Amino acid sequence: MYILGLTTLGDSAAAIIKDGQLIAAVEEERFSRKKHHSGFPYRAIEFCLDFAGITLKDVEHVGHYWKPWILRHKAMQAAKAALMSPAMFKARADRGVAQVSDSYLGMFKHPKRLRERFGASDFKFHYIEHHQSHAASAFFVSPFDSAAVLTWDGTGEDTTTLFCQGKGNKLEVLKRIKLPHSLGQFYSAVTNYIGFDMFSGDEWKVMGLAAYGEPKYYDYFREKVLTTNGTGNFKFNIRVLDHHLAKHYQFPEAIVKELGPGRKKGEELTEHHWNIASSAQKALEDTAIYLVGKIHEMTGEENLCMAGGVAFNSVMNGRIFHETPFKRFFVQPAAGDAGCSVGSAYYVWNQILGKPRDFEMEHAYWGPGFSNEQCRAALTEAGLKFETIVDEELLPRVAKMIADGAVIGWFNGRMELGPRALGARSFVADPRRADMREVLNHKVKLREWFRPLAPSMQEEHHQEVFGVEHYDPFMITVLAVADDYREKIPAVVHVDGTARPQTVNAKTNPRYWNLIEEFRKLTGVPMLLNTSFNVQEPIVCTPQDAIATFGKANFDAIVLENNLVLRADN
Ligand SMILES: [Fe+2]
Repeated sequence: MYILGLTTLGDSAAAIIKDGQLIAAVEEERFSRKKHHSGFPYRAIEFCLDFAGITLKDVEHVGHYWKPWILRHKAMQAAKAALMSPAMFKARADRGVAQVSDSYLGMFKHPKRLRERFGASDFKFHYIEHHQSHAASAFFVSPFDSAAVLTWDGTGEDTTTLFCQGKGNKLEVLKRIKLPHSLGQFYSAVTNYIGFDMFSGDEWKVMGLAAYGEPKYYDYFREKVLTTNGTGNFKFNIRVLDHHLAKHYQFPEAIVKELGPGRKKGEELTEHHWNIASSAQKALEDTAIYLVGKIHEMTGEENLCMAGGVAFNSVMNGRIFHETPFKRFFVQPAAGDAGCSVGSAYYVWNQILGKPRDFEMEHAYWGPGFSNEQCRAALTEAGLKFETIVDEELLPRVAKMIADGAVIGWFNGRMELGPRALGARSFVADPRRADMREVLNHKVKLREWFRPLAPSMQEEHHQEVFGVEHYDPFMITVLAVADDYREKIPAVVHVDGTARPQTVNAKTNPRYWNLIEEFRKLTGVPMLLNTSFNVQEPIVCTPQDAIATFGKANFDAIVLENNLVLRADN
């Protein structure tokens, strides 16, 4: 039985499962080359069907990550609120009404769209609540028979935070927190206050900057903006900081008095902004830890699954993993909305059809892959000189180039699902070189100096590097590097002595593990610096994308499967 799962607005994506096994999953942005692609994921669906070797008529069920009718109700409420309090709610209502008239009502047409494009089929179409899709995307592919499941994001239809308990093939909803109380929207509002673009990935920047600041405004945030009161809820006070108003720099007087005017785009970033970021980050972390404590009390579970955009906050995750009573954690690599495509498919398979669970997501490599022949054809067409080399020679040679200071575009196997490059489409470099962060951020990736870079390390070496047991194949936690190890790998240690590692397993990504092994043999350091293979666009998908990036960015070589392309030769 084939089930297709769909995410159809921001970060749209498709996934396909066969008899409960994930076969393929991919974000539409990787094909359209538009970051966070919003709109029906035609090409992602096409890839999933092709990869499975089927057509739409073979698909029995389609899971969709959103129930559009709940939002209709919400927009009516927003319109009512606008009438009552025009100044405060106008922006919110405008947005709500626009959304309903365009994209959300359009969701009712998705079954028709599918058949129009991919042919007649009598699949059953299931609209699934957004947060339950998130919860399914975490729990049903986790290694746990039972777990507490916490999902948090900007918002679903009207829920922003969902507490569930998963047992076997069922998820039970325990509690929900609704708009306007949203951790995601709080963080987006702060992103805006500091003059970055919210909802477009700039939220990462706030977390990056936070490491440089002091939480000087923490008390203010916790008393006036993001509060908790012992009932297991939190409140986000949109009268003080509403991301809809923030968009237009119309920040309420109260917060301007406390934090100064919001930074406008292009204005200088100062220590003051680092301090705001640091304060907001700490407020988020402490609120999150409070909620995690509550769900632990409610469920008594030892295992915690998390999903939703907030679950990408790797600094928060680090504290949750090490400071709360839960013993084991699972966050899959597409914890944001793209992963709801996987979640919707599994929600149908397990929750609706009642099938037993028989799948664990051990890696992120669910996208397109390309053969050596395909890579060579692309290189020949681009007129690039290259050598084809077997791994026994290629990997030591590439490791030596890295140790000598080269930045390599590493293209290997099937592309990652989710926003992190995990050794399938990665830039790799030497973590021992302090200047590598500057080289990568400034010269290669053309982005801000403060963006952190992370290591991919052989999972066997976690004790040596961190001094504690730590497994994280999906790079979603930040933790402290052992004191005596920090100076060995300055390019991947943040200013506060932490790092966000990917632990690489020899079984799930043997070729990447072997490359790191060659580097370890040369240098004694069991890791590489790893950052996503892209320059100001989505992560590269095809050999053609990799070659185009090679043409416009300054790095030394690409490894396209077994084909080595040197800048010096071209
Ligand atoms: Fe979401």
